[in-house]
Amino acid sequence: MTFKVVITGAGRGLGAVLADLGTSAGHDVQAAMRSPKKASDLPLDLDSEKSIEAFAATMASRLDQVDVLINNAGVDARAFGADPAKRGPFDISGEHLLATMRTNVVGPMLLTRALLPLLRAAGTAKIINVSSQLGSMVVGRASGSDVAYNASKAALNSLTVKTAHLLGDDGITTIALHPGWLKTDMGGERATTDVEEAAAKIWQLIDRLGPEQNGSFLTFEGEPHIW
Ligand SMILES: NC(=O)c1ccc[n+]([C@@H]2O[C@H](COP(=O)([O-])OP(=O)(O)OC[C@H]3O[C@@H](n4cnc5c(N)ncnc54)[C@H](OP(=O)(O)O)[C@@H]3O)[C@@H](O)[C@H]2O)c1
Repeated sequence: MTFKVVITGAGRGLGAVLADLGTSAGHDVQAAMRSPKKASDLPLDLDSEKSIEAFAATMASRLDQVDVLINNAGVDARAFGADPAKRGPFDISGEHLLATMRTNVVGPMLLTRALLPLLRAAGTAKIINVSSQLGSMVVGRASGSDVAYNASKAALNSLTVKTAHLLGDDGITTIALHPGWLKTDMGGERATTDVEEAAAKIWQLIDRLGPEQNGSFLTFEGEPHIW
């Protein structure tokens, strides 16, 4: 089965690999990039409401439905210039925390809202919110050095269950996903999981995802993740 797919943050990292694998599998992939590299690339800056609206209008002109939305783009506070050693709750700036929330929570919420008519048109759509194990209350309590990141992924998890609750009866399955600790710019060299391997497993998970998993928090291997 092939899908019409929107992937955010597809210029590099996990999003780029998901887009390549999805295209190779025959899916119609709309690879959204904050920093387009060539004229045909699709621009989308999740920090800008205007950009989100323009992107949704482009999607409406290209597609009659969206089967899969992968809200993949994400940042930690280093993206806004936070001192890597000063990202705990007693030294991070309020501005850095808010900026991280804007990208990781407000952006996916506004994009999902803007694409809702196309998601509803699919009949059975899937929304994949790329979260993190650090968004878990249990795991994030004592792990991770960036409270803006942990708190934003916890908020994304909250947004996920709310979205799932409101859209489940319309045939839309929404999940939060921990993609693994990945060898990307964000995950760094010490990361344990190869990004190609994780992306392949994420596609397998998307293929078999059904309404019984609506509102769940899953690992890239399809196992339930502790909240
Ligand atoms: N790497 C890990 O170990 C790990 C673990 C758990 C969860 N995750 C999550 O997995 C997702 C992908 O992570 P990654 O490792 O691939 O990160 P990455 O290599 O740092 O890539 C992040 C992507 O997000 C895009 N992005 C950032 N801000 C954006 C904005 N305002 N609007 C649109 N796109 C924006 C970036 O675009 P630019 O190229 O323009 O900067 C880039 O394409 C993220 O949500 C991350 O939180 C990652």
